[in-house]
Amino acid sequence: MTLEWTGNSVIFIDQRKLPLEEVYVECVNHTETYIAIKDMIVRGAPAIGASAAFGYVLGAMEFHGDFNSEKGIAHMKSVKEKLASSRPTAVNLFWALERMHKTFLGYISSGNILDILEREALAIAYEDIEVNKAIGKYGAELLRDGDTVLTHCNAGALATVDYGTALGVIRAAIEMGKKISVYADETRPYLQGARLTAWELMKDGVDVTLISDNMAGWVMSQGKIDAVVVGADRIAANGDVANKIGTYSVAVLAQRHGIPFYVAAPLSTIDLFTPTGKEIPIEERDHKEITHVQEVQVAPNNVKCYNPAFDVTPWNLITGIITEKGVVRPPYNMTLKKLFD
Ligand code: MRU
Repeated sequence: MTLEWTGNSVIFIDQRKLPLEEVYVECVNHTETYIAIKDMIVRGAPAIGASAAFGYVLGAMEFHGDFNSEKGIAHMKSVKEKLASSRPTAVNLFWALERMHKTFLGYISSGNILDILEREALAIAYEDIEVNKAIGKYGAELLRDGDTVLTHCNAGALATVDYGTALGVIRAAIEMGKKISVYADETRPYLQGARLTAWELMKDGVDVTLISDNMAGWVMSQGKIDAVVVGADRIAANGDVANKIGTYSVAVLAQRHGIPFYVAAPLSTIDLFTPTGKEIPIEERDHKEITHVQEVQVAPNNVKCYNPAFDVTPWNLITGIITEKGVVRPPYNMTLKKLFD
């Protein structure tokens, strides 16, 4: 379980502690939900979106008064802005908050606005699972029985409400009866691959082999990889894809070795308002993530660091983008737009 709505709080599995500890964190207001997203108790683009939607509901519950007043509207605007400031790259966050705020403004004078907002947040969460299953179904068709898939970061159940995008493709292929093995990049510096992908695939009994990021090229050159499937945090209108740092290197390596490189993502990750990858804001995180492995210091004191959390893979390295409406291929500036018709 990535997250659970209780009716007056949202509970997260603390992804910072996995795989060594399975502990849960309960957020009872929108500020705590903001902190949960910012501190990566919950992470992964679709999971961040759904979490923000529940944070928005909690924010509404904190207000006692007439929503259809200057004070009520200002309160909900500040809740939305606070949650939106938690992380900059995954567009699902802004997509979910826009959807919640639009619902709020549309039903502002109805007597049961809290119920309506709660229903909308639950719809976002349930839809995410259905969408991932559809992505899985389309993506599974691209894999052959016996294939080995390389993935980067964690685009699994933990990065979504359930099932996953890239890992959803693997799950669906296995459900279809195909034998699929996985190589998981450890994903320095935050180790989502080692800590989360390896953990959730092993839990499901999927054959997973962990490698450190710098092994991907060699593993490909040995003919061990048939396809790469990764998730996305934001897909620009031209098909450039922002995803976890290191994804770009994997895409370059895949092209060098003639291996298909697929991105699995819902429509809520596609941002037609951002023309190319150049305009996607890339989050930079604490240097401690590089100078330390977990809590152990591995670099000299005060060394200069650069820690971008995401990179952009140019559209021309991407074989196909797997969505809930099917697989789209270049030219993405045309095919992505058509998905919204
Ligand atoms: O920094 P994170 O862990 O939130 O980054 C997650 C990723 O980059 C995922 O690949 C992406 O969000 C897709 S999740 C279905």
